[in-house]
Amino acid sequence: MKNKVSIIGAGFVGTMTAQKIVEKNLADVVLVDIIEGVPQGKALDISQSSSLEEFDAKITGTNDFSETEDSDIVVVTAGFPRTPGMTREELGLKNGNVVKSVTEKIRACAPECIIIIVTNPLDVMTHLAWKVSGFQDSRVVGMGGVLDTARYKYFLAEELNVSVKDIEALVLGSHGDTMIPVDSYTTLKGIPVSQFIKKENLNAIIERTKTGGAEIVKLFKSGSAWHGPSSSIVVMIEAILRDSKRVLPASAYLNGAYGIDGTHIGVPVKLGASGVEEIYEINLSDEELAALRFSADITKETFDKLRIL
Ligand SMILES: NC(=O)c1ccc[n+]([C@@H]2O[C@H](COP(=O)([O-])OP(=O)(O)OC[C@H]3O[C@@H](n4cnc5c(N)ncnc54)[C@H](O)[C@@H]3O)[C@@H](O)[C@H]2O)c1
Repeated sequence: MKNKVSIIGAGFVGTMTAQKIVEKNLADVVLVDIIEGVPQGKALDISQSSSLEEFDAKITGTNDFSETEDSDIVVVTAGFPRTPGMTREELGLKNGNVVKSVTEKIRACAPECIIIIVTNPLDVMTHLAWKVSGFQDSRVVGMGGVLDTARYKYFLAEELNVSVKDIEALVLGSHGDTMIPVDSYTTLKGIPVSQFIKKENLNAIIERTKTGGAEIVKLFKSGSAWHGPSSSIVVMIEAILRDSKRVLPASAYLNGAYGIDGTHIGVPVKLGASGVEEIYEINLSDEELAALRFSADITKETFDKLRIL
């Protein structure tokens, strides 16, 4: 039987994700948006490329949420990007109401699915969706760390003038300015990159990674990235649908690990058919652990200030 993935929000990120899923023949896709005609038009356009791109997966666009019924995975990209001058709380409030109403519909239409949250502020929205859905911890996960790590790897490979495939790295914490690119797990073919890069250059790369999204927003003037984000979402979808047990950084519910309780935050997880199948509690330096806890505290504080529930 074919897998089914629904994507809520037919904007830049949602549409590119849908396109990549069908082009890889990973699953049939339902693209949902509130704007009439937009998801239908985008689905039709992508469908018309099927003979050229050689895919058989079906994509449909709709404004009717009931078409997400029986989805294996529902990806939430619905919401608004941060605009200049907007605080994290203001964005959280605006998108929080969208994520709340979308999650209520997911709970009703696709109660067995795994939810991947993409809407920002990522960790806060993931926690909100988890609460509203009432789903087990393993079935609600946020996409942030895969993208942050991909950006970090790209900058490192450029600096070292090596293939990005030979870089291994891990970015933990919130998908935002408190993210933590972990030095000790950043290697070139298993050799710590500190042996190849001067400390000040590595620090500059870490800073660039932290503002990786903002750098693109600044170039665009309006709107945010979608190529890197959609590829990151597809990596997570593939791990779940193929039950490949990939170890990836993702926003997961912590219940004591790292001394953090009651929030979602980016940590290394095992992703398989059941969603988040394991959370790895890796060794961190005192400084890294403090940074992760700080990041979790900020996420909790932002969630509490929303008062949406
Ligand atoms: N987690 C990440 O790494 C990451 C990366 C990129 C973007 N994002 C976030 O993803 C979100 C989407 O980004 P984008 O560039 O695609 O934005 P976009 O504005 O292009 O698309 C958002 C879409 O959501 C739709 N929408 C709004 N309310 C809806 C609802 N209730 N139901 C269904 N659809 C609804 C809008 O009509 C719009 O088409 C933003 O919050 C952005 O900040 C996160």
